[in-house]
Amino acid sequence: MRTIPEFPNLFILDHPLIQHKLTLMRAKERSTGGFRTLLREISLLMGYEITRDLPLTTERIDTPLQPMDAPVIAGKKLAIVPVLRAGLGMAQGLHELVPSAREGHIGLYRDHDTKMPHEYLVKLPEAAEGRMFIVVDPMLATGNSAVHACDVLNRHGVDDENIRFMALVAAPEGMRVFAAAHPRVKVFTAALDSHLDENAYIVPGLGDAGDRMFGTK
Ligand code: URA
Repeated sequence: MRTIPEFPNLFILDHPLIQHKLTLMRAKERSTGGFRTLLREISLLMGYEITRDLPLTTERIDTPLQPMDAPVIAGKKLAIVPVLRAGLGMAQGLHELVPSAREGHIGLYRDHDTKMPHEYLVKLPEAAEGRMFIVVDPMLATGNSAVHACDVLNRHGVDDENIRFMALVAAPEGMRVFAAAHPRVKVFTAALDSHLDENAYIVPGLGDAGDRMFGTK
């Protein structure tokens, strides 16, 4: 895991398996099925790093040999919140890692002219004390959707301290916007790319994540 001075709340997950899989996903000849499988696999690996600091408590159990106080994750079940629709592919990988996690949904679409997000659906698990919410969206491009999703969680009663944002690829422009609005939310990404193009696509990026995952145009 790597950090850079410009973005103290950004964590770049440079594990070789994550980097290798991202390269396979970026390649334009990757099939829809291949892209989806890789997204699920990479999300699982990223989730392993993101959950590294979850607090533990102990629970009394009996092994076949003797009783013991064994470590278990403390507090409320965590919540996975994909931003629709591209976040769904990442949520799947996280669920394999944490099957008991709750799942909420934030539906946003991006206005093609203004590039601003419009909300069409919000359905979230209860903001119980200490519950961690992991927001997932593969592309942190302008940062507007990421900011909006965290604003929605704040409105729902979730403090920034209990939010993590997971993006496959981030752009510096979007990170600046996001860090200004939610400096206490930790962002985890597999890559911080070069820049946004005139259509707010990440360069080099991987194209439209939703279209590549669902085989749409
Ligand atoms: N959304 C995408 O799917 N890709 C980008 O490059 C930017 C936003």
